[in-house]
Amino acid sequence: MTRVQEHQRLRGVDLQDADAWDDPYPYLADIRSQGQLLWSDDWQMWLSAHHGTSDTILRNPHIERRYEARCPESQWGSFNRLNARAALDMSGSEHTRVRKALTTVMRPTRSTDFSALVASEVDRLLDLLSASGTQNVDIVTGLIEPLPVNIICAALNLEEGIGDRLRNSSIRMVAAFEKGQTPAEAADSQLAARELEECFLGIASTSRSSSAGRHLDSLLEQVPGSLSLDEAVANAILLFNGGTGALINALGTGLVTLLQQQELASLSTPDAITLAVEEMLRHDAPLQLFERTADEEISFGGVTIAPGDRVGLLLGGANRDPEVFESPDHFDPARHPNPHLTFSAGQHFCLGAPLARLEMQHALRALVDRFPRMHLAAPPLREPGFVVRGYSTILVNLE
Ligand code: HEM
Repeated sequence: MTRVQEHQRLRGVDLQDADAWDDPYPYLADIRSQGQLLWSDDWQMWLSAHHGTSDTILRNPHIERRYEARCPESQWGSFNRLNARAALDMSGSEHTRVRKALTTVMRPTRSTDFSALVASEVDRLLDLLSASGTQNVDIVTGLIEPLPVNIICAALNLEEGIGDRLRNSSIRMVAAFEKGQTPAEAADSQLAARELEECFLGIASTSRSSSAGRHLDSLLEQVPGSLSLDEAVANAILLFNGGTGALINALGTGLVTLLQQQELASLSTPDAITLAVEEMLRHDAPLQLFERTADEEISFGGVTIAPGDRVGLLLGGANRDPEVFESPDHFDPARHPNPHLTFSAGQHFCLGAPLARLEMQHALRALVDRFPRMHLAAPPLREPGFVVRGYSTILVNLE
């Protein structure tokens, strides 16, 4: 490991402080003001909240994602298998092979096809929501959560009604990426990974033995050509987790900001919607931290990273870097250009970004068209945590 010099050490910032969960941006600004790359004793890794440095590191093939299996294997077995076989934690030619298989499932022509599906699902959900009343409506359970869940279930050709169960397990599995889990929370994440693995293995075996109900078709078509069955299962779960959690949080957080600033009614053109969605993604990133490990010695702005050192990219901090974004703390729905790093950069750039943008744009357009006077009915309830940022409940009055 690198010998850390005193001036390279991060001082006085605790990202696990509950105030940082509520509003991490003053903390991230403090980190950025201390340097481009700083050593965190708390997290035992280098941290960057700087846009240029984060972007360069994400694009550097010698600082890669490296999955460290969790111990003991008897408890983390499913979690380890699902992560080690998923594209997100692969590198080099293995990553290229699996990413190519996933791209055929989510390729742009399919994304284009998704447009009509997303539009009609948004309408269906909003019809149901408004039929249940217009005051004190929870827009998370009514629209923001079921939309991505139903769309990814349709993309994977999963049976109707399974989405809620998968979503429950998905939230609990992904909670393991938060820092400082308690033993009870860790045990629940292990159980959730087992539930997901068993569920998708079950679906896959039914699909393969029955010509009638083919589920996960597109991924299973890659078996045994480019994927093993275990890889198809792990990557179906990656698509489910990726296609729901971050998208739900980005849509919820961005909508709250739009409503707090009373900007909804001003989004009157398709271009205004497109730009507003990018600003929703930039201003409060739903996933704040991604990690890399150096496989050779690399220097950045006076810091030498040794092979094996871990580096944490603070995407929310990079997205508020004043060197790149004018008045970065200000939410400007017309901001352009907007080179945020919310979908990362380099070889792991989010594979679902076109679908995520499509869903956010359709949802926002429908809300503006149908409920231009929508406003918050109560302060929204935030989920605790630093890495994953979002609201569990957003009560609104539709009129
Ligand atoms: C607003 C919503 C979303 C956000 C903020 C987001 C964010 C990200 C980020 C930051 C990464 C790369 C992580 C890294 O560099 O270490 C990533 C990768 C990925 N995302 Fe997303 N994502 C979103 C939606 C989606 C959707 C809708 C899907 C699928 C339907 C998806 C599937 C994936 C996959 C498969 C990868 C792995 C790509 C690879 O390793 O090559 N994501 N996402």
